[in-house]
Amino acid sequence: MAGTYVVRTFGCQMNEHDSERIAGLLEADGMTAGADVDSADVVVLNTCCIRENADNKLYGTLGHLKSLKDRRPELEIVVAGCLAQKDRDTIAERAPHVDVVMGTHNVHRAVELLHERRRSDSAVVEILEETVAEDHDLFPSALPVVRRAGYAGWVTIQMGCDNSCAFCIVPAVRGPEISRPFGDIVAEVERAALDGVSEVTLLGQNVNSYGRDLTLRARDGGPETDGVRADPSFVLGPVAAEGDRVRIRPLFADLLRAVGSVPGIRRVRYTSPHPKDLRPETIAAMAEVESVCEHLHLPLQSGSDSILAAMHRGYTAERYLERLDAARRAIPGLAVTTDIIVGFPGETEADAEATLEVAAEARFDGAFTFVYSPRPGTEAAELSDSFIPREVSAARMERLRAVVERSSRLANLSRVGSLEEVLVIGPSRKDPSRLSGRTRQNRLVHFDPVGPVRAGSYVGVEVTDATTTHLRGHMTELLAAPTHRVRIPVAAE
Ligand code: SAH
Ligand code: SF4
Ligand code: F3S
Repeated sequence: MAGTYVVRTFGCQMNEHDSERIAGLLEADGMTAGADVDSADVVVLNTCCIRENADNKLYGTLGHLKSLKDRRPELEIVVAGCLAQKDRDTIAERAPHVDVVMGTHNVHRAVELLHERRRSDSAVVEILEETVAEDHDLFPSALPVVRRAGYAGWVTIQMGCDNSCAFCIVPAVRGPEISRPFGDIVAEVERAALDGVSEVTLLGQNVNSYGRDLTLRARDGGPETDGVRADPSFVLGPVAAEGDRVRIRPLFADLLRAVGSVPGIRRVRYTSPHPKDLRPETIAAMAEVESVCEHLHLPLQSGSDSILAAMHRGYTAERYLERLDAARRAIPGLAVTTDIIVGFPGETEADAEATLEVAAEARFDGAFTFVYSPRPGTEAAELSDSFIPREVSAARMERLRAVVERSSRLANLSRVGSLEEVLVIGPSRKDPSRLSGRTRQNRLVHFDPVGPVRAGSYVGVEVTDATTTHLRGHMTELLAAPTHRVRIPVAAE
């Protein structure tokens, strides 16, 4: 299939990762990346439905694409991702100019569905109920990939989620939790490292429950590919002995150790651990494996025990703070970020105060803060009698932001004078004479380079200044040059 494509991503890293795979499949089929939506032959919208404004964004974009398609009827529009999974047929009904609607369990089918559309005279809609657990080829990481940045790779270790947080739509649109075989993950990281990827981010909705489902599958003989069953050790990784018992479930910590020792991998990140499942083994692996970065994204959601219980989060504020404290004691310089929801149904002034107190005590380096957004089909969406008025949530949000900004600023200021290892992203958006990059703690740094430095390099930066959002400094030395292949655009004949 010739022509150009554009993939627009609306959601989280998992969604972004699926986009990379959709792009990889389109390129394997002969397409090339287009410069913009206005000139592309195929536009893929990879959607999210975590909050309501995500829906609005999609329908807004579809409105714009309608006028493009009126002018260029050959334009093909694909809607993929979580909102497609949730809304199914209604997308094609509301927006009849859409060509293909596909869900979260059939990313691997993107190209076939486009081909099917060309043979049919109406939109093709394919939404699967769930991923077939035995077929590990369906993990998006097993598909061809076009990485947004050649030096950084995302690796899915688990799909779906078995929790039932009362506010959350993810289990409904991503299905039950399925762990990817251990050997498969390590092999992908090894391949990525050979491609020059030096930073990997392991992705899952609840990474610490990684492996829970694998024991059963290994007992059943492991996944089958082309009629061949995988060896149980491929599924489970190194089977560990614990005292006189043999543990037959791999832990996330085992995975951190295995991935962290792949040659060429300089940084390992992961997102997200669930506070209720954050195990001491994970903290120990973070502390001991040099490549695992000193950054923990630990979603708090609320600082009030009654709200946490209503959310079914499975921990109290005290427990959360204890675990955070243990992690900080074990990992010097640990940066901690979080997610917090403001205005969950029934949240009182005292609950909101509790969140402010816990946030202050936790001294977060940064926080994603969200106003609660009811998602039809989730438990909390039924609690409409206790919804919090918009202006009340807005005021609480403002107070929370002030608390988080204070700790972010102090945390950034504490780095002034230090020498940081920075992975270079590219020229700073505001001042292209400077470069931007990320420290191991995931802090954004803008700095003056010494000579030309390519994206993907590791450099030393002396920090001279800090704000709430970033550090500033100057480069001291080049620590490592990038090894990923740079894609050189080739002009069409
Ligand atoms: N699996 C991750 C979260 C994925 S969703 C975890 O458990 O940590 C990312 C964040 O979106 C959540 O942490 C939560 O803070 C926010 N979020 C999810 N549903 C929401 C809703 N209905 N309204 C507002 N924020 C929500
Ligand atoms: Fe949603 Fe909770 Fe699962 Fe995270 S752990 S994806 S918040 S249900
Ligand atoms: Fe991610 Fe949004 Fe789906 S946050 S899992 S893309 S609903």
